[in-house]
Amino acid sequence: MNSNKQNIKLSPSRISGLESKYLLEALETNELSYYGSNVSSVEKMFKSYFNDKEVVTLNSGTSAIHLSLIMAGVKKDDEVICQSFTYCASVNPILYLGAKPIFIDSEPKTWNMCPVFLEKTINERINYGIKPKAIIVVHSYGMPCKINQIISIGEKYNIPIIEDAAEALGSSVNGRKCGTFGKFGIISFNTNKIITASSGGLIICDSISESEEINHLATQAKDSKTHYQHSKVGYNYKMNNINAAIVRAQYSILDENISLKKKIHQFYRDIFLNSEEIELQEEITGDVNSNFWLNCILINNLKNRERLIKVFTDFNIETRPLWKPMHMQPLYKEYKYYGNNVAETLFNKGLCLPSSSSLNIKELDYIKKAINSIV
Ligand SMILES: Cc1ncc(COP(=O)(O)O)c(C=O)c1O
Repeated sequence: MNSNKQNIKLSPSRISGLESKYLLEALETNELSYYGSNVSSVEKMFKSYFNDKEVVTLNSGTSAIHLSLIMAGVKKDDEVICQSFTYCASVNPILYLGAKPIFIDSEPKTWNMCPVFLEKTINERINYGIKPKAIIVVHSYGMPCKINQIISIGEKYNIPIIEDAAEALGSSVNGRKCGTFGKFGIISFNTNKIITASSGGLIICDSISESEEINHLATQAKDSKTHYQHSKVGYNYKMNNINAAIVRAQYSILDENISLKKKIHQFYRDIFLNSEEIELQEEITGDVNSNFWLNCILINNLKNRERLIKVFTDFNIETRPLWKPMHMQPLYKEYKYYGNNVAETLFNKGLCLPSSSSLNIKELDYIKKAINSIV
């Protein structure tokens, strides 16, 4: 038993210190609804962050994907292509609409959607007489996917891309931020993300008319009458001024968090540099910039993977398997999958390591000690 046992979590938030100020202001001014100075400030800050694109704050990344699908015109029985290697929230909104997911495998470099299988699948579905209505692509763990190739394919076949950048706030490709490539981009401010609203999300879109329609849908779609009149189904999806207080404060440490994440990535790089058995997820080229939301490794020998998990458990350090691909999930077993089992291999070999920007030197030393006790 280790007498200095610590308890290290995978990705807890890092508090800026400004949260209580904005929360208190909201309470004192009785601005508790989805209007208020925090909501307006957050929308203004992210509009500027995303190079003057339009943004709408929502209560979660999941609702942002749901509304993006509605905006893309997805309806019952439509097919939506989606990356299989992801969290269920990328895909579940397809089922909310009664539409059908078609799953695409990852490619081994970025672990994200394989552009080759994407194009093959589109052609096959078109030949079959069904043109997919939208494509959901994910920057898993903050690592940008091959977004330029995927955007070109979307343009070639005229299919809108929904870019799930829930985990990739601050990641970029050729200097352009993830979330701004697709027809719609989404961000999550869940508690484990790079900055948090406690719970919250954001849609990034091109035009004011789109952002107005998203706001309308997110606030129960009330017609512009003085009385309560509704001509379509709406949702209670807008971010409130309390959650916006937290993310407003968190925005002040976004850049700092990203540079801390990069340092943590370098910490793991140094540890695994000479390991022949363990491979750390890396950026593919200099143009690709990950926020390294989570550091993930692949362990080639499955027995050693079990041993490593046991060491971390004994040290009270939280780790987690990589995403179990959606096409392997009981919920999604009836839907089509196109691929070559790359995502399945990632699931079998992978492990997410603690990566919070709040990790201190003592905790990092402790993690290193755990790893060195076996690697
Ligand atoms: C890839 C991905 N997509 C979507 C979501 C949904 O975000 P939220 O939890 O804010 O609903 C998350 C995070 O939870 C995620 O990791």
